[in-house]
Amino acid sequence: MYKNIVILTGAGISAESGIATFRDGGGLWSSHKVEDVATLNGYRRNPALVHDFYNSRRRELKNVSPNPAHIALAELEENHPGSVVIVTQNVDDLHERAGTKNLLHMHGELLSIRCEACGYKFKSGTDFSIESVCPKCSKKGVLRPDIVWFGEVPMHLEKIELLLISADLFISIGTSGAVYPAAGFVSIARNSAHTVEINIEASITASLFHEQIAGKAGKAVPEYVKKLLQATE
Ligand code: OAD
Repeated sequence: MYKNIVILTGAGISAESGIATFRDGGGLWSSHKVEDVATLNGYRRNPALVHDFYNSRRRELKNVSPNPAHIALAELEENHPGSVVIVTQNVDDLHERAGTKNLLHMHGELLSIRCEACGYKFKSGTDFSIESVCPKCSKKGVLRPDIVWFGEVPMHLEKIELLLISADLFISIGTSGAVYPAAGFVSIARNSAHTVEINIEASITASLFHEQIAGKAGKAVPEYVKKLLQATE
């Protein structure tokens, strides 16, 4: 039985819920310039555009639900006798809505807002603009999405590294392996863990995994979770 399971998820796990991925055909980065909406420079140049981009992504969350892959991972956490932690690159809230508790959002969260002036963070599902005021320090025009942009350091990295070096099973689901440091997690984990990739197509780092499962997350993840849980009975 695996004692320490670490699961990395990417945009592919939420694709069947109706949230666009970044790099597939029609993905977010084909219709928006990364440097405009996902960098600090872009935000400084045109904060209204950046607010609009994240407002529409935040609104989108109201029309989507967790799919069988999110639900299966929550069931794994609840029923597996060992530790199960999900590290997600996704900024949606579908893992938590499926019931996952042990969750680290390494690229931030759409429903979290941060004040650039006083550092205050708060949860909100509403729209923001350059007129918005920080509820703590009352300054105007200082709120930004609590999202890790390109050039910024991902969140929880120390904790994630500790989890990876003690993992005995590492599963990567629906991520292209294009963005570091997440793309490098398999190289750390494989020293001690069996490593599995679940994706509709091989990722850039596919050759580093011990096992490849080709398929849509909504079907392949519940099947894999079922096998894991049966092995502990
Ligand atoms: P990508 O858009 O780069 O990759 C999505 C991956 O999901 C691809 O490998 C697809 O083959 C796979 N995929 C698509 N549909 C799937 C399905 N139904 N089942 C299984 N796999 C499927 O998204 P990420 O790898 O998550 O960062 O991107 C990583 C980071 O790049 C994001 O967190 C974001 C982005 O720029 C920031 O915004 C900081």
